[in-house]
Amino acid sequence: MSEAEWGALEAHAARLKAKTLRDLFAEDGERFARLSFRLDDLLLDMSKEKLDEPALAALHALARAAGVEEKRSAMARGEPINGTERRAVGHMRLRSGGEPEVEAVLARFLAFAEDVRAGRYSPPSGGRFTDVVNIGIGGSDLGPVMAVRALRPDHDGPRLHFVSNVDGAHMTDVLRDLDPRTTMAVIASKTFTTQETMANARAFAGWLKAAGVEPGAHLAAVSTNIPATSAFGIDESRVFGFWDWVGGRYSVWSAIGLPLAIAVGAEAFRAFLAGAAAMDRHFLEAPAEENLPILLGMAGIWRRNLLGMPTVALIPYDQRLERFPAYVQQLDMESNGKRVTLSGAPAALATGPVIWGEPGTNAQHSFFQLLHQGTDPIPAEFILAAEPRERLGDHHALLVANCLAQSRALAFGRTEAEARAAMAKEGLAEAEIDRLAPHRTFPGDRPSTTILHKRLDAFALGRLIALYEHKVFVQGAVWGVNSFDQWGVELGKAMANELAPVIRGGEPADTLDSSTRGLIAATGR
Ligand code: F6P
Repeated sequence: MSEAEWGALEAHAARLKAKTLRDLFAEDGERFARLSFRLDDLLLDMSKEKLDEPALAALHALARAAGVEEKRSAMARGEPINGTERRAVGHMRLRSGGEPEVEAVLARFLAFAEDVRAGRYSPPSGGRFTDVVNIGIGGSDLGPVMAVRALRPDHDGPRLHFVSNVDGAHMTDVLRDLDPRTTMAVIASKTFTTQETMANARAFAGWLKAAGVEPGAHLAAVSTNIPATSAFGIDESRVFGFWDWVGGRYSVWSAIGLPLAIAVGAEAFRAFLAGAAAMDRHFLEAPAEENLPILLGMAGIWRRNLLGMPTVALIPYDQRLERFPAYVQQLDMESNGKRVTLSGAPAALATGPVIWGEPGTNAQHSFFQLLHQGTDPIPAEFILAAEPRERLGDHHALLVANCLAQSRALAFGRTEAEARAAMAKEGLAEAEIDRLAPHRTFPGDRPSTTILHKRLDAFALGRLIALYEHKVFVQGAVWGVNSFDQWGVELGKAMANELAPVIRGGEPADTLDSSTRGLIAATGR
């Protein structure tokens, strides 16, 4: 990117910082029409971002200068864009259809899912598998658990449970209500070496044995490390592979999605893939000016790098998307939480923001106070379905009203004069109005984007996840980082492995720092 291009963006930012969202809406009655974008029933409303068309045009120039479209094509062509691991990035291949190698694994794990659902694959002691526990962590957990919860209305298979944490409480609490004779586990680990997952897999096998159940038939695995699954004693008929060109956080489309397939069936799983494929086609083919992932990504660049906002609150107004913020947290922060570019040089711009969030309306009653009146303006992304999956009284109207009200309140706030007028209407005395006016004033001018789709079904979920995957790609491309490695998680893993023997009672090394020594001693070891 040239200095001129960056200078143009900074000039737009300075111009827009001098205005409020109130000003921008007052100046242009067509803001929504100008700054909202569609793909079928999926609508991206960016009119409440502190942007206008000239600023957006400058952002598109930045995306072009950063080679976003060329990098996107390189990913689609299968080039090894994950340079530090010398790997291609192929999650789109998992949903594009027509690749024999991919289709063969897909057909196998979907057939297995259907066998479990129909009771054709059943426990040796008789009956059916009533419960399936997915044992995995990170990308081998977050995608399946998020998607399984999101598609709850489509569940007609066995009950699904998820154990990820190496805290034994997680496994203990999940297993306490399950019957070992009718429970199976899917051990999901790309590497099949992850400490937490291996410890939990051994604990699950131990739980079965303690109940007199031979583990073999109760275990399936999803991994790229087939020798390790065999060494664990899992019959290869129940081992489903994937490929090194599928990153953990991009793997829900692979056999890592097996728990979802067991919960909702093959047809719904294929609809999930089709939704993602629809977004892929759009990302690859739509002009940048109408391209939803590019637009969402560049809105994020604008907030992060031009408005200086280091976090994004992700607020689904959809209880079934309760794990979506956690899912996107891994997707975004593990992908773009990088301090150097692909070449190893320090990143010139601030990179990945902190992603966090909770579903609305619950979030309104916890941290929204800070969003409305805190000293740091925090941008939000709202996700909303126009229609509920099922009707329950007036609930959906209330949900929609709350979502739209929040983005409105954040954008437009309430001036002191308005706050005073409201209090006068409530009949408060003048002195009381003076006292409370600063507290009841809302600065507003806090940007947000609203993502609206018709309803949260398998297709819409796949499309929504792919939207965020590509948004992350776009931002990583602008920052010039490798969005597909995760070296930052290595050091902590190595140190945990070093410390485990000490925690088990071994002697700490002389070189251990005093804080860690002190903490070990304080645990009573
Ligand atoms: O936390 C690092 C990480 O490598 C993630 O990227 C990955 O999703 C997770 O660990 C689990 O890895 P695996 O599937 O190999 O057990």
